[in-house]
Amino acid sequence: MTWLISLLFLTSGCNTTPYNPIPDFENLSAGELDLLIETGLKAWRTKGLLDGGATCAHCHAPDGFDLAYIDFTDFHIRRRGAMHVGKEIGELNASQLEDIINMTHAIRVKYGITPRNSSDFYPFQHESRITDIPLTEQRELAFVSEMQKKGFRFTEKPVLDIEEAMLQKSELSETDLWSIPFGIELMRWSEDPYYGKGSQGLLDWLPILPVIPAEYSPAIFFALHDEYLQWPTDKNLEKLLEYISEVTAGLEPDDGNQFMYQKYRAMLIAQHWYRKSILNHSAPSLKFWPKKIVQSNESGFSDDDHRNPFWAMGEIASKGELYLPESALVRYTRFHSLSEQIDQMSLPWLWLGWLLDPGFENTPCELECAKLLSADLLKTSKKGGPYFIHQAFFVIKLIERFGLKSIDIAGILPVDFPSDPYYRQVYIKWIENGLRMGLFIELDEGAVRHQSTDNLADYTKYLEAVEQFFLKAGSEYLDENLQLIEDIREKISKN
Ligand code: HEC
Repeated sequence: MTWLISLLFLTSGCNTTPYNPIPDFENLSAGELDLLIETGLKAWRTKGLLDGGATCAHCHAPDGFDLAYIDFTDFHIRRRGAMHVGKEIGELNASQLEDIINMTHAIRVKYGITPRNSSDFYPFQHESRITDIPLTEQRELAFVSEMQKKGFRFTEKPVLDIEEAMLQKSELSETDLWSIPFGIELMRWSEDPYYGKGSQGLLDWLPILPVIPAEYSPAIFFALHDEYLQWPTDKNLEKLLEYISEVTAGLEPDDGNQFMYQKYRAMLIAQHWYRKSILNHSAPSLKFWPKKIVQSNESGFSDDDHRNPFWAMGEIASKGELYLPESALVRYTRFHSLSEQIDQMSLPWLWLGWLLDPGFENTPCELECAKLLSADLLKTSKKGGPYFIHQAFFVIKLIERFGLKSIDIAGILPVDFPSDPYYRQVYIKWIENGLRMGLFIELDEGAVRHQSTDNLADYTKYLEAVEQFFLKAGSEYLDENLQLIEDIREKISKN
């Protein structure tokens, strides 16, 4: 009997250790680690079974840095990797998955990475996580107190003269948006349908279709990866991004490819940022992006393809222009419909677009995107909303940056207000401060300078929208507000 038990024990032991003994990664030499990374990289770039022979590198970070930076386990890698192992298209085999696992561990040790929790890591989300507050309204109020704590003048001091208007304008223009804990929830790295109902496969950073356009050279693609991995500088990242723009230029959006290429580019930027933060031991600046749109019509790709991928993603989603191939649809709409996911997808991407490009310089969408973002903030989706207070801050920043007249304020001001009296009062206070800031500045300079009939028509239109807003809000500053409008009208009529 004993022999039977020990035989069972032995065989079951055998079944659970089908792989070579796991190396003690912490104690490997630098040379041994590099060797593991080199071997892993070969597997990482080996064609798999899916998507016409996609390699891991066609959807993830060039060396799997993302899998190392986040706490994906050996099991996760085997499970996900197994989907790509097979006989038909590529040559990727199961033992190469072990190479990828070893590479992931080696990268962690080499760079001293303590991996982030995959279910709780939202790239670019501010550390002070007010997004954990479940109810939108509470989250909005938490945002209000954060802004008060930071001492923003517009949260307390009413703008009632040009001096205060200028003070608030300069305070706002010096604000680093990345230092503010916003309540808009961004995306997790991976939303795997494997986890069931809770995951929303399209709302993550990873493209579900690979970057393998017809006109593309794997040799150039991987040479750029190699260069980037050897010197992970902003410039080398930029070269890689440009190459992708070049080969994917002019693609129609109707097969989901445009969306996935933009996602791939966004993913590269995110992994670059985290790679830099590990290499420099501190959070890098995001100043390297956006870069001005490159005018390179000679090379055959348009400005459109150089746009900030975050804006591009948000724009495609908010216009509902995402169409996926049938096979992808089946997999990614099992728990949540495509339209439901698209509905939640645009806000985080547009918001990121704005954080990275508050001047709307790197998007052909320009102020049209401001309207899209504003409308998204004011809508309700499954993830929450409407975000009135965040919208107010966004509007104030728009006014600070562009002036009241340049933005289509009529298309941006809301039709409804929050119903809770306190919430409503804060919202009106913030947004009115922004509007008065803009009006005082116009009164001081703009209205006197511009005199053409076109300009007059613009003025009439926007002044009417602002006046309607003031009347509807009926705040304690109603008289001052209406007076300001009158003053501008008078000044215009005198010119
Ligand atoms: C066609 C693009 C694509 C390719 C190729 C690809 N992946 Fe992924 N991977 C994804 C996407 C997208 C996700 C996010 C989950 C989802 O949407 O299914 C993901 C998620 C993962 C995860 C995290 C799973 C989790 O538990 O959340 C791991 C690990 C992973 N991939 C490993 C690999 C490995 C290893 C390879 C190569 C053998 C590979 N992937 C190739 C697109 C790809």
